[in-house]
Amino acid sequence: MNPTWVMSYPTGYETGTYLALDMGGTNLRVCQITLTEQKSEFDIIQSKYRMPEELKTGDADELWEYIADCLMQFIETHHGEASKQKLPLGFTFSYPATQNYIDEGILQRWTKGFDIAGVEGRNVVPMFENALAQRGVPIKLTALINDTTGTLIASAYTDTKMKIGCIFGTGCNAAYIEDCGSIPKLAHLNLPPDTPMAINCEWGAFDNEHKVLPRTPYDVIIDKDSPRPGQQAFEKMIAGLYLGEIFRLVMVDLHDKPETHMFTGQDISKLRKAYSLDSSFLSAIEEDPFENLSETADLFQTKLDINPSGAELELIRRAAELIGTRAARLSACGVAAISKKKGYKSCHVGADGSVFNKYPHFKARGAQALREILDWPEKTDPNEEDPIEILAAEDGSGVGAALIAALTLERVKKGNMHGILHPENFK
Ligand code: BGC
Repeated sequence: MNPTWVMSYPTGYETGTYLALDMGGTNLRVCQITLTEQKSEFDIIQSKYRMPEELKTGDADELWEYIADCLMQFIETHHGEASKQKLPLGFTFSYPATQNYIDEGILQRWTKGFDIAGVEGRNVVPMFENALAQRGVPIKLTALINDTTGTLIASAYTDTKMKIGCIFGTGCNAAYIEDCGSIPKLAHLNLPPDTPMAINCEWGAFDNEHKVLPRTPYDVIIDKDSPRPGQQAFEKMIAGLYLGEIFRLVMVDLHDKPETHMFTGQDISKLRKAYSLDSSFLSAIEEDPFENLSETADLFQTKLDINPSGAELELIRRAAELIGTRAARLSACGVAAISKKKGYKSCHVGADGSVFNKYPHFKARGAQALREILDWPEKTDPNEEDPIEILAAEDGSGVGAALIAALTLERVKKGNMHGILHPENFK
């Protein structure tokens, strides 16, 4: 539960031009966003750069240098050599980083398969700023942002019913706005109790103690073989990074138990390769429209050199359904927990990420679970909105980051310096 120092919802009337950088799992995205005079409107230009796989487990300096180079390239392309004025930047760094005004930016732990030495336990802001300074990139870092907070703020810019921002992608997490009076770790600041503060829940770390959620043997293996055993317990059951791997482990286990006769006599060496199936493989199984699951059969043949029988195909489909359904229902538990804590009877939840946007039935399964948890009566009219709806979010790491940079500049101008690490960046 990290306070993020985002201390208001946007009004829709924010203006100005900002840069946004998103260091996601697969890509690095750089955007320039102009929040226009028109309420809730914006213009955006963006470039994507591939995040080389080797950088994710490489050296910290190489990571920051690569990011600085991408930013420089973006600025040169869009502003030309002439750009002297330092542009304000919102940096979406979607890993658990404390955002406490004394130690703002300290990376608590890498998640999502990243494993770069020398960054955990340290403040990422100076490392990033050094790389910018070394290359003379004309940028001032205005805000370090979690993707969930960006999603919440971007969605609230266009929809005032938005109260929660979620990511269901490679990782999973949520943010919402709390009153400072309910945040014991900020009590020493003596802020007025009704001061709003966005909280990055980092709910991926829920139940790391394994006291609440039942785990399968496959969950145990996923954790044991991950770069950070014992961490992100909830995330490892839900997020896109793990869904294909859970399924693969189930298949291998069934094959290795002779009494189940799964893929008997077939060479499953391709299936034995860890992380060889991603969540799009599972999506494809769940999306197979044919009664005889012929697309699934083709998939197993082409990707794994396995020819499943009819009965095996049915089992494959059922396993995919169970893994996808568990992920969606656990996700809904998180949304329900925040809603209950805040007493939200009706609101919108902005969600983004590959699992939310692409995994079949994820939305419907999540909505059904919310209905069960929150005891809503069955709908009489199928077009009726649910009291709490999880909807596709606005662009959190672009527009959201720009808005947070704008909100931060605005409150600093009014003298609210809480959470500001480098006041000189705001002059
Ligand atoms: C990270 C969060 C992030 C989430 C979604 C998790 O692995 O810990 O900070 O919000 O992924 O990207």
